[in-house]
Amino acid sequence: MNFPVTRMRRLRRTEAMRSLVRETHLHPGALIYPLFICPGEGVRKPISSMPNVFNLSLDEALKEAEKCAELGIGALLLFGLPAEKDEQATGAWADDGIVQNALREFKKNRKLDSLVMMADVCLCEYTSHGHCGVVARDGDHYDIENDASVTLLAKTAASLAKAGADIVAPSDMMDGRVAAMRDALDEGGFEQTPILSYASKFSSAFYGPFREAADSAPQFGDRRSYQMDGANLREAMREIELDIAEGADMLLMKPAMPYLDVMHEARQRFDLPIGAYQVSGEYSMLHAAFERGWLEPERTMMESLTSIRRAGADFIVTYFAKDAAKILG
Ligand code: PBG
Repeated sequence: MNFPVTRMRRLRRTEAMRSLVRETHLHPGALIYPLFICPGEGVRKPISSMPNVFNLSLDEALKEAEKCAELGIGALLLFGLPAEKDEQATGAWADDGIVQNALREFKKNRKLDSLVMMADVCLCEYTSHGHCGVVARDGDHYDIENDASVTLLAKTAASLAKAGADIVAPSDMMDGRVAAMRDALDEGGFEQTPILSYASKFSSAFYGPFREAADSAPQFGDRRSYQMDGANLREAMREIELDIAEGADMLLMKPAMPYLDVMHEARQRFDLPIGAYQVSGEYSMLHAAFERGWLEPERTMMESLTSIRRAGADFIVTYFAKDAAKILG
């Protein structure tokens, strides 16, 4: 009889044994919860494709933020839904912009001291056309003007830092934005504010539900002239190299699960802190299966987050942050 000398099952027999040899761990401090802040008072508007996610007015957002702090979540990522939109995304960089106002309130609340306040920097929620930059039109043709957009994005980053953002997170994918933001931050006296760059952001169908949540669907065309083609891994590495050279302090990759190979490759090559954004569509897709009883919610959620960590993410932006933090205790 030929018995196996190595029996992998020896270390799998009990939960205590499995826990001892577990290679990847999740903790609430490495989870980041996105908040969508809208005008008004007492507003808690559900997002139909994202169960348990809401557009929140500032008073409601404060309550939500306090809950996150109690759960030990590491950071919030703030998005704004302005009352008015225009071609120049004025609401993105206005002193009294929706996220700027929220940041000032959040920063006054001592219960939120344990939360890092991250502000997403993009123009798409603030432009009337829903693109992430300034649009130049010529008859039927249009172009998203890179350098004019970068100027507004840099202004937005400085304005958010001034309002109290601990980290600014550009998600627009214009070329040169990190360098321009670093300049604008330094000139404004915010040399200590880190930039978390969405370095490799793919043009993805998985952002669909977010566009309802942030009311930011492009009114014409798509984002393929600035977000990356999902087929390209080497290009993603170049994007990251450029952002590092321009002064990014941390990197964010998105989406998460369909792009774990990109995360893994980035982790091998770069030593900066790297995070993943488990995006709206990933969340909606799992919830749709939970609702039908096709997947077991708790285990599937934790497995999805663990896989992202295992691929190399130091931190994860996820709409599951509160649910996962509750389980992690
Ligand atoms: C803004 C932005 C988007 C997301 C984060 N920042 C949408 C987009 O690029 O269309 C997507 C997040 C998600 O799907 O959860 N540019």
